[in-house]
Amino acid sequence: MKVGIFGGTFDPIHKGHLAIARAAKEQFGLDMVRIMPARIPPHKQNKGITEDVHRLMMVSLALPVGEGIELDLTEFEREGVSYTSDTLALLHERHPDDQLFCIIGEDSLRDFVTWHEPEKIASLATMLVAVRGTDEKGFGELLAERNRQYGGAFQALTVPYYDISSTVIRQAVRTEREPHPALVKATDDYIHRFGLYGCKPTAVRREALKRYEELSERLAGTVSAHRLNHSKGVAFMSANLMAEWLDSEGILETPNGKRLVRRTLLAGLLHDCAKSLNGEETLAYLKKHRIKLRDDVLAIKGIWHGPAGRAMARERYDIRDTEMLRAIGNHCNGSVDMDEHPMEMAVFIADFTEPFRDHIPTPPLPVIRQIAREDAVFGSETVTAATMYYLRAIGSKETDDMACIYQTLHKIRTSKKGKGWKAILRKQ
Ligand SMILES: [Fe+2]
Ligand SMILES: [Fe+2]
Repeated sequence: MKVGIFGGTFDPIHKGHLAIARAAKEQFGLDMVRIMPARIPPHKQNKGITEDVHRLMMVSLALPVGEGIELDLTEFEREGVSYTSDTLALLHERHPDDQLFCIIGEDSLRDFVTWHEPEKIASLATMLVAVRGTDEKGFGELLAERNRQYGGAFQALTVPYYDISSTVIRQAVRTEREPHPALVKATDDYIHRFGLYGCKPTAVRREALKRYEELSERLAGTVSAHRLNHSKGVAFMSANLMAEWLDSEGILETPNGKRLVRRTLLAGLLHDCAKSLNGEETLAYLKKHRIKLRDDVLAIKGIWHGPAGRAMARERYDIRDTEMLRAIGNHCNGSVDMDEHPMEMAVFIADFTEPFRDHIPTPPLPVIRQIAREDAVFGSETVTAATMYYLRAIGSKETDDMACIYQTLHKIRTSKKGKGWKAILRKQ
């Protein structure tokens, strides 16, 4: 396969990036372009880059489904600074038959000599240099010089619609409420909903984000960095789903709408709080709280933390809200009447589709994400089916009611009751 690798901070991702990815596919016949957000870009360390969870959420919302432009988390797999040379070497090792194309900007063509191990990079990939036109001043000479230095690895990638700067976008969204023309709408909505880049949050009150910060700091003291990232991913993926659903009903920016988004955000954040315990500790914790697990649940160690998390959210994080507790308690498996509990659906779907997830084979996560944004029940149905697929593929057991949950959701979605969840949403 011919694979394009497009790295950067994507803070935020915008239409210029998509134009570059499309142009690379077209001009060099690439099978796919992998958008690879940098976890800690070597040359931008400590320069106030937006948190990983938000950059990944924005990318996952911006990418078109089925065009062969995909989010890639390779740079998030390793600790410490991620160098392009290491990433390319890793990709080459994993897929030795792939032909790699590394997409860079004009600035990077100039700086290339200062990059970490430039020779190694040039030997592993063809470097595609995005430029508005090859007649740009000095471009041709510089390209020729680099090709002399690095064995002809560089090629020009002409992209007419490209001259957009993330810096300018960040400044504009801070002051303007109007959708920014260079942003994909879903990304633009996300920025405003959660108050990124210093703009006023529209889907939650500022206090809610403060509460989120407090709780995530407490959670950070009890779970691994990996688990914390996942929890933040579920928090914002579920809150954004809820926001999409409320927005489609025109009730997002009402006090009730904002409360629902807040409650979903916090339930999403805490859904795995009991993962701080090991198997034995979880059983002891359940016993202490007099929670008896069904036999089929007891047979699957990996899902004990759902019911335990429900008790822990109450005890340690002082959550009293029954919908939030329910969403946390049922997040592993769902429930037959989950169509009547939008928050449970949001957290259940987000647990499977949050942007740090990339190990799940099929159906593709971008498709599930798209379905879920439009229809909560369809999203839950798809995640249930995908979970069964996944469990069977890895030879793991599933609960006795999982197939029944799937069938129930399927029946509801395809019947007159299919949009009933929207009425529930309006009443909550
Ligand atoms: Fe979980
Ligand atoms: Fe989880």
